[in-house]
Amino acid sequence: PRRPLVLGIETSCDETGIGIVRGDEMLANVIASSMDEHARYGGVVPEIAARAHLEALAPAIEQALQEAGVALDELDAVAVTSGPGLAGALMVGVGAAKALAIATGAPFYAVNHLVGHVGADVLNHEPLVGDGGLELPTVALLVSGGHTSLLLVRDLTSDVELLGETIDDAAGEAFDKVARLLGLPYPGGPEIDRVAADGDPHAIRFPRGLTAAKDLERHRYDFSFSGLKTAVARHVEAAQAAGESVPVADVAASFREAVVDVLLTKALAACRDLGVPRLLLGGGVVANRRLRDAAVERCAAAGVALRIPPLRLCTDNGAMIASLAAQLIAAGHPPSRLDVGADSTLP
Ligand code: KG4
Ligand code: ZN
Repeated sequence: PRRPLVLGIETSCDETGIGIVRGDEMLANVIASSMDEHARYGGVVPEIAARAHLEALAPAIEQALQEAGVALDELDAVAVTSGPGLAGALMVGVGAAKALAIATGAPFYAVNHLVGHVGADVLNHEPLVGDGGLELPTVALLVSGGHTSLLLVRDLTSDVELLGETIDDAAGEAFDKVARLLGLPYPGGPEIDRVAADGDPHAIRFPRGLTAAKDLERHRYDFSFSGLKTAVARHVEAAQAAGESVPVADVAASFREAVVDVLLTKALAACRDLGVPRLLLGGGVVANRRLRDAAVERCAAAGVALRIPPLRLCTDNGAMIASLAAQLIAAGHPPSRLDVGADSTLP
């Protein structure tokens, strides 16, 4: 069918996401997060995430079916994130999707989580800037606690090129680690955003990773945040050693500025180099106020059309997985074999 009815399952990290779409129409997007259970450990604990998925899946599927007003036997396909992500967490979702597919007779589609983030933008929504649907080719910048990737998407179902990615920490991970250095709770992204509002983004000039001329040759579209994190740690230590109080708001604002600057500089360089005047953002870090504002300003200045899906579609969710599968089906892609397993390092 051209507008297939697809149920999508996402369990690659801490969010149990169940989405139901009909073509580009989103009928349900249920998300249960186990973040509360990880908070006291200062990071996602894989074993806890996998167990939480196991508990959350069946009720979330029932809720999604109910919200969509859909019965299991109507589904044209069952889709699932098969990777990349946490192995145990992925396995729970893949197992559930196969069970549903076998029980209902619906075809089974195993899809790539990162491409799913791009697939979310096809779902009907109001773009922040620009109008109409997702126009291709586009450069896509995906930034979350698990990934920092720059993609060139020519065709969502057959031609997605990885231009670059982080060579150490993911952007969200850097926010989380720096928050910890500043004594702020986990997850740190929203906390840094909050305290940075009262700080001066130019108070401290933190390093912009992989932007020096010598690095650009090999790492033009790659990112590195570990040096930035270390620079923040040195700054905090120096203040403490001098018996001064740490200027938390200025450090947070300057750190946030450094991350946002390097993300947008590289994304816009890709747009310019490749002659693709379109940029799509995705991932949980897109919640960042400064990133959103700076993206709007800098894309407008560069003549680049910017698309930012609503936050609920930027963070991990099942609708983006269902959406990608619906497009694969419409493009005539065959289902995945039932012996396709979870692949935590799927490229
Ligand atoms: O996409 P997501 O919900 O889950 C995955 O990591 O896949 O992203 C979560 C990440 C966390 O690292 C969190 O600190 C970060 O996104 N984040 C933010 C903000 N809100 C969440 N980072 C910066 N600023 C924010 N406002
Ligand atoms: Zn993600």
